[in-house]
Amino acid sequence: MAGYTNLPFRRIAYDYGACFAYTEMIAAQSVFKARQKVSEMLPSPKEPFTGIQIYGFSPEYILKAAERLQTFGKFIDVNAGCPVKKVVKKGMGGALLKDLDRLFEIVRILKENLSVPVTVKTRIGWEKNEVERIYGGLVNSGVDMVVFHTRTVKQMFKGKADWKVLSKIKDKAVPILVSGDIFSPEDALNALELSGTDGALVARGAVGNPWIFSQIRSLIDYGYYEEPSINERMEIMMKHLRENIEFMGERRGVIEFRKFVAGYTKNLKNSREFRSLFMKVQDYEAAVNLVRDFFDGEVIL
Ligand SMILES: Cc1cc2nc3c(=O)[nH]c(=O)nc-3n(C[C@H](O)[C@H](O)[C@H](O)COP(=O)(O)O)c2cc1C
Repeated sequence: MAGYTNLPFRRIAYDYGACFAYTEMIAAQSVFKARQKVSEMLPSPKEPFTGIQIYGFSPEYILKAAERLQTFGKFIDVNAGCPVKKVVKKGMGGALLKDLDRLFEIVRILKENLSVPVTVKTRIGWEKNEVERIYGGLVNSGVDMVVFHTRTVKQMFKGKADWKVLSKIKDKAVPILVSGDIFSPEDALNALELSGTDGALVARGAVGNPWIFSQIRSLIDYGYYEEPSINERMEIMMKHLRENIEFMGERRGVIEFRKFVAGYTKNLKNSREFRSLFMKVQDYEAAVNLVRDFFDGEVIL
């Protein structure tokens, strides 16, 4: 997730059971221009299984970028789902679903030239469901795995993700993963069952809620899962905050942590007031004091 899945967040997600992750999406053109920004987005060598997501228009340019970056990640992922206007109007991201031959060519050229697996993160179509055509073409181009956010590009985030459309894909030559509206371990199990896919992706549901990954695992393996205690929640939040600061410096680390605070304090009494106070904090000590004061005596509603 652009703006979220940086190194500190991926580390926390791995700590709590994620089996793989992606970098934020990286523009193919930026690889040779915004080097500093791109190097900050790349996986660390210690990450267990992080793919590098690239978006772009020209197959040759995407290949050049992927060749440069491939050694930093475990696989290269092509974004063919982003619905953001400035991306789509240049024919990139979700717009590739209006230009499927180009998408298939991108995968083909990457597969021919890279030494790491090539995957695609996409949606079910531009404005109507075309999963079978998209999946079939990607398989023919040599793709190693496909993740479908089960909405169309035009839908943006409106309506409900339609997990069931993936069950129509009969010949599952390479793994398919389902994405969209998985906010709880039960959602993950339902999505897997209704889609008939090999795995599920958690995106927004992991923000300030990274333990969802181990909860899903526990629900699958043992039929139940536990909620972290108030104290555990606080510890995980503080750890994430410290990682953020270590990665990007104190002020930026605290400020950029604001987007995670709502998740970490969801369903807690007085969380509204806490969140608005946190929005004003800019240094570690003030942040930690605020977090400690808040969690002290806090109860789950
Ligand atoms: C803020 C935000 C940023 C996102 N950035 C990306 C991205 O960079 N690459 C991508 O493939 N999907 C991106 N997505 C889409 C998610 O990966 C996911 O498919 C979508 O949010 C639906 O899943 P969810 O309901 O579990 O969030 C983003 C979603 C959000 C909300």
